[in-house]
Amino acid sequence: MSDQVLVIIPTYNEVENLERVLQRLHASVPEAHALVVDDGSPDGTGDLADRLAAADPRVHVLHRTAKTGLGRAYVAGFGWARERGYGVLVEMDADGSHPPEQLPDLLAALADADLVLGSRYVDGGRVEDWPVHRLLLSRLGNRYTRWVLRLPLQDATGGFRAARADLIDRLPFDEVASEGYCFQVDWAWRALRSGARITEVPITFTERALGRSKMSGSIVGEAWARVTVWGVQDRLAEWLPGRVPPPVTGPAESSGR
Ligand code: GDD
Ligand code: MN
Repeated sequence: MSDQVLVIIPTYNEVENLERVLQRLHASVPEAHALVVDDGSPDGTGDLADRLAAADPRVHVLHRTAKTGLGRAYVAGFGWARERGYGVLVEMDADGSHPPEQLPDLLAALADADLVLGSRYVDGGRVEDWPVHRLLLSRLGNRYTRWVLRLPLQDATGGFRAARADLIDRLPFDEVASEGYCFQVDWAWRALRSGARITEVPITFTERALGRSKMSGSIVGEAWARVTVWGVQDRLAEWLPGRVPPPVTGPAESSGR
């Protein structure tokens, strides 16, 4: 399998941020390709992405017609990547919160792991310039997730990750219902249950300087509800063996729209 890296960057109204984050990415990892997955941003992010792609063969664009959530954008991006044989898939936000300068650390850790999480909450990890309510939400969300899913991860909700494509192939992404940011927890949990080796490496997350966060009450609500349901299902599967099928691995699947 190739080791060609594809950095998948979901965008919704990131016209002020996209060019700069791609410059930083290519300054840090020149050989990496990037896939911008734009959900028809009304601010023209998709057109800008097309112009950047026309000028640089390392940049690609996947246009989607409606804003259907971060999770669905990533599932589509993973499918696109696997159809083209990329061996390493990276998730990264467009707004500069995830420092491309630390991507080499994530890629290095992939030598001994199937999935590397850029983590704000392990030793050496940091969050800069986040308002206290965002930090609390993130810390409480991670604590709840660790407790309900018994997930031995410090930062299961973060969105700066690198994964081996063969892990992505093993996971049943066609079953993923998570639309919003809980997609990150969803697939980290699937990865863990499939036996993947997961490593967390410290990153510095810096709040965006331009544009606005798309975090919303409904995204938080979806995450809270889904994590709770998964936790209950997990306990039921333990207490009623044979009655609830374990929702773990599935056949290799590379469609993903
Ligand atoms: N295509 C697409 N569709 N992109 C989206 C959508 C969507 O529906 N919603 C958000 N994005 C893109 C944004 O344009 C940005 O590039 C990235 O996803 C992250 O969105 P932000 O709105 O900047 O997220 P945040 O900074 O509030 O949240 C951060 O923390 C979350 C919780 O830890 C991110 O690091 C998330 O990845 C993380 O889950
Ligand atoms: Mn952000």
